[in-house]
Amino acid sequence: MITILGIESSCDDTSAAVIRDGVILSNVIAGQAVHERYGGVVPELASRAHQQNIIPVVHDALKQAGITKEDISAVAFTRGPGLLGSLLVGTSFAKGFSSALNIPMIEINHLQAHVLAHFIKEDEHDTNQPEFPFLCLLVSGGNSQIILVKSYDDMEIVGQTIDDAAGEAFDKCAKVMGLGYPGGPVVDRLAKLGNPDRFKFSKPHIAGYDYSFSGLKTSFLYFLRDELKKDDGFIEKNKENLCASLQKTIIEILMDKLYHAAKDLQIKEVAVAGGVSANSGLRAAFEEYSRRYEWKIHIPKFAYTTDNAAMVAISGYYKYLDSQFCAPDVVPYARVSI
Ligand code: KG4
Repeated sequence: MITILGIESSCDDTSAAVIRDGVILSNVIAGQAVHERYGGVVPELASRAHQQNIIPVVHDALKQAGITKEDISAVAFTRGPGLLGSLLVGTSFAKGFSSALNIPMIEINHLQAHVLAHFIKEDEHDTNQPEFPFLCLLVSGGNSQIILVKSYDDMEIVGQTIDDAAGEAFDKCAKVMGLGYPGGPVVDRLAKLGNPDRFKFSKPHIAGYDYSFSGLKTSFLYFLRDELKKDDGFIEKNKENLCASLQKTIIEILMDKLYHAAKDLQIKEVAVAGGVSANSGLRAAFEEYSRRYEWKIHIPKFAYTTDNAAMVAISGYYKYLDSQFCAPDVVPYARVSI
């Protein structure tokens, strides 16, 4: 029996999870409301909040899993990418924990963990995991990538954003409309009430499978600026249609490149991961492509879309099986590729 404690602290969520033989036993996440009033994550405040949250979150994760710390085989933690101060909290905790219990420590790449979230089993009969090789659209606040997943630790970036991430496009456009932070979930909610064909926004023309979202953000901004000159109540009167049209454009940009990558690589097994994979329009688009192109799709449970330690623990489980442990002098890295 292999029991992994996962620790995630790369941005503004402190999370701990327990996975036993690939099956989820607990996944506790403490968010940080402190950033809301600043309209974005403040790194110093994030590190402080991680310090406050980490011990209670781990206690809760062990309690919910019905285990004690002596039952744990290894501790897996997010080494990067992320905010350095935040990563230091999780890394230091993992070092203390592994040293006190004399168990191995396993470093995890946060981006790989998002992809491997698809291998978390809800129970021992759960066989709904992707088969290698598959494509994964990783869309979050900091990333938009199409990844060719060849094995648990062999992943290749097929395409990626050359500027903003899809989540940033949602958040920045939402901010311009005064919808608060993070705006992605609000846009999603309002989009359900609007007409997606009411407004047209520009889409990038880039060769290959790369993305770009900064042009869309600028065209959205200029469009609103011009309309507000004519009617200062424009946003309030049109926010549902604006959200629906914006969301439709972002999804079309994402799906178009993904479709071409899947077609060219002759892959029919396609997954989505990261915070933006919570978007209902994107989920519906996946269902639609699955019907139209006979894709076998993998859409994560909502709990595994945003940052969580369950994905770190499952990644740790596969590294444990391969004896991939790290040295005690390991340090986090803010920037690293998949
Ligand atoms: O993976 P994630 O939790 O973490 C970071 O990248 O830091 O992703 C967060 C991103 C934010 O941009 C947020 O607005 C977006 O995911 N997001 C959504 C939805 N839920 C979260 N975007 C669109 N629709 C949603 N329902």
